[in-house]
Order: sequence, then structure tokens, then C-alpha cells
Amino acid sequence: MLQIPSLATTALITFNALEGFQAKDTPRNGSMRLTRPTRGRRFGMLHIAEEARVLELDAHVQGGRDGKGSGCMAEADGSDTVCYSMDTLNTVLAEMVIVVPCKDEDLSVIRGVISAIPAPCLVILVSNCKRGDDDQYIQQVAMAKGFGGYGRQILAIHQKDLMASAAFRAAGMSELADPVQGTIRNGKGEGMLLGIALASAFCPERRFIGFVDADNFHAGSVNEYCKAFAAGFAMSPSPELEDTMVRLRWSCKPKMRNGRLDLVTEGRCSKIVNSWLNKLFTPCSNQRNGGHKGPANTDANSPFVTTGNAGEHAMTMNLALKLRMAAGYAIEPFHFIDLLERGHLKHPGEKQQAVAPNGTLSPLDKPVRVLQVRTLSPHFHRASGDEHIRRMWATGLGSVYHGLAPYRSMPGSNDGSISKLREEVHSFAVERGGIDGAKGELPQPNIYPALENIHMARFREVLESSLGIGSFRAFGFTRWKQS
Ligand code: GDD
Ligand code: MG
Repeated sequence: MLQIPSLATTALITFNALEGFQAKDTPRNGSMRLTRPTRGRRFGMLHIAEEARVLELDAHVQGGRDGKGSGCMAEADGSDTVCYSMDTLNTVLAEMVIVVPCKDEDLSVIRGVISAIPAPCLVILVSNCKRGDDDQYIQQVAMAKGFGGYGRQILAIHQKDLMASAAFRAAGMSELADPVQGTIRNGKGEGMLLGIALASAFCPERRFIGFVDADNFHAGSVNEYCKAFAAGFAMSPSPELEDTMVRLRWSCKPKMRNGRLDLVTEGRCSKIVNSWLNKLFTPCSNQRNGGHKGPANTDANSPFVTTGNAGEHAMTMNLALKLRMAAGYAIEPFHFIDLLERGHLKHPGEKQQAVAPNGTLSPLDKPVRVLQVRTLSPHFHRASGDEHIRRMWATGLGSVYHGLAPYRSMPGSNDGSISKLREEVHSFAVERGGIDGAKGELPQPNIYPALENIHMARFREVLESSLGIGSFRAFGFTRWKQS
């Protein structure tokens, strides 16, 4: 006779089956698997790696049972992959600050972005929203307080806070202030600089800093961005030995066109800026690298720099303090120019060192590795008009054009390749409407000095005295009790 098991027996069988399954086959915990860049190009102290890709967001940890979870696998396409366990990623994330620059995004969108930032990260919200009637900043602070109540560490500040510009002035950096208003100038780059200074002054124990835009409608992608930053640092040497920058390229940007969703793989601005950075950083084929041969297997024709305008990027804190930063949206392309100049054009080891008129610019004190990572998530954000995009590529290219002005060629060469590239960039801008009418040149964004030169203790002292009084707020910290 057929035995019908009781409900209790069925439950027991199911439970046992699951237990057996878990013991044998379930991965230890979530982890990120990426391709490992094995090729790259070196420019003196600067090393730029070819693009890596995130392959899995929650992968089996192959090997690496020691908690580091760095098991390697060979892929069908010949690339290596590497897998980092959540333990490893969390260790890095616990040393990371994420700066969220925001202007006038809806509160719900900013909330989504912060909600998706991994819990171990400390968040700094730098807002440049309009103030006055219907003050959005008050709502942003209330939101930050809510996150603090759940144990998140979060700092919030308004870019136009008079004490913020006073702190920079007192610390010896008055360049950030608007000469008329006295407050910090408008601009995303300026907001990010304020975020870096806050991180350095108030959270000096955190060794990594990342940036994510606040206008992201697909909040979950931000979680992947932060983990990709962490994976990039996990695959790099310790920050004591080498500085690292991780720049993200999104899998695509969804765009509505004629009622259809187009998945665009390169934005309008990135397409232009990347193409010129590629010309600058393409070795041998056109002698632009002054005879610095890339590895034999580097394909000079495939796009190499894919992250010229990476709004989502992260770096070691030491590097964030060391770099000069450009104003507004030129901040990301100019990273490459400052790194090239400090790591190669002014590299002390080079025989034929190109000399910039500004003799005060110090070379890099240790090697810098730039990792470019393509995420799985698309980037879905506020659509920008053509004029915004035109200004963005023009100031980005302007930072390249003006930044390279002191140089003719790469070290070790006398081929005038940098001068030629600048002429071509200028002609392109004339043709495509990128010239600043008044000067007849590409726009020249402000370049701010490195933050390492400011008196950080003084900066902290001034701002700490305004905590809870001006716009500066801290939530989720035991050392500052905040209302
Ligand atoms: N604090 C602050 N101050 N934030 C600002 C300011 C400012 O003056 N201006 C813009 N932001 C914030 C926005 O609120 C948004 O969260 C983020 O910076 C990016 O600004 P968008 O205006 O959305 O820029 P975008 O989408 O055109 O360009 C983004 O992607 C580019 C790559 O495609 C930016 O991240 C660019 O820097 C990046 O190059
Ligand atoms: Mg945007």
C-alpha cells in the first residue's frame, strides 16, 4: 500500500534535503567576479589598465576559502577572472567614503542612491540645491538624520555654507571661493573637492574615497558601483605602495527615442572625450608615446581609454589629496592630464624631462594605477540637453588642451606629438562649436591646487565649530551628538 507521509515527515525530508544541498553545493556567500586586466600601458609612474568587466554580482567563490575569496578562473575568451568574497569587499568598503554631489534632484531619487550604498561606507552628501522658500536642504538633512538613526554614518553640508568657504580660506585655499559672493563656487568638481576635504579632515582613518552621482533612477546600480570600487582596490597593491584610481564605465545608458528604448553604450560627451584621450595615450602606432612600447599583445586600434568622463570613480585618499582638480564637469577628464603630467612629463627618472613653466608642480611620489571597470548595471539618470553636453565635452577637452600647453612631445621624443594633438583638438572644437566665443579658444576650466597643501587641522577646526549651527551635520557617529 502506498505510504502517504504526514506533513511533519514531508517538512523533515525537505529540510534534510536542503541541508545536504547547502553543505555540498551552495557558495559560501555573495561575491563579485570580474575579468582581471592583464594588459595596460605605462607612462612613467602612471599605469593605465585596459578595461575590466564585472561578470557576476553574486558568484561562487572558487578557492580562496581563507576569506579573501580571490579564486581565479580562465574564461572562454582567454581572459582571467577573479572573484572577491563579500568579506573581502566589506573590508575595503569599511575603509571607504562615498561622496554624493547633488543639486536639485528629487529627494526620493537622492534617498534611493544613499539607500543603495553598502552599509560599511561612510556617506558625505554635498548639496548645492536652491535654498530659501521650500528649502530642499532642510529635507535632505532630515533624510540624512533618518539614515543616521539606522546606524549609517553620514555627513551633510551645503556647498554655499559660509563656514565651508571660511574653512578653506583659513586653511590657505581661497581659490575655491567665488570672489563676489565669498561662498564656494558652483560646480560638481567644487562640490567633490569639498567632499574630499571633509573626508580627510573628519574621517582620516578611511583610506579610499568614491563618488556617485545623485541623479540615478536605478538605485540598485549604485550598490554595484561601490562594490566594483572595492573590487578594484582589492586587486591592487596596498595604498602604502601604490595609489589606485578605479573608474567605471556603465554597461549602457537607456535612452527613449521615438517611443523605443535605445541602450546606448557610450554617452555623447564620453564618445568625444574618450576619442581624444585615446589619441594621447595610444603608444607606438603614431609615436605619441615617445617610443614607450605597450605590451606586444595590446591592440592599438581597440578603444583603450573608455572612462574619460567617469562620474562614478574612486581613488585612494592619498591620491585624492595629491591631485590637482578641475572645476565642474572637467574634473574627470583632467585626472588623466594631471596624472600624465605628474607621473610622466615631469617624472624625475626621465632623461628628457619636459619642463612646465609652473616649476612648483611636484611629481608623483609613488606609482599610480588607473583601473577601468565596466559594470553590469546600466546607468539611468536625468537626461541632459544638447547644450549641456556641448559645454561638458568642451570644458573636458579644454582641460586637456590647456593642461598640455607647456609640452610639445612625450619624454624621450622630439616628434611634437603633443603640439599636433592640441592643434587637432582645437580644429575639432572650431568645427563642432566647442570654442569659447570671447577668447576664440576652448574653455579653460579653473584648476585647483592639490588639497595636500592646505592646513587640514585648521579646516577641520573651523568647520567643526559650525557643526549643527550652519548647514554642516553629522549623523550616526558616537563622537558627535546631533539633533
Ligand atoms: N554639489 C554639487 N554642486 N553637485 C552638483 C553640482 C554642483 O554645483 N552640479 C551638478 N551636481 C551633481 C548633480 O546634482 C548630479 O547628481 C551629479 O552632480 C552629476 O551632474 P549631472 O548634471 O547629472 O551630470 P551629467 O549626467 O550630465 O554628467 C555626469 O556624467 C558624466 C559622464 O557621462 C557627471 O557625473 C559628469 O561629471 C560625468 O563626466
Ligand atoms: Mg546625470
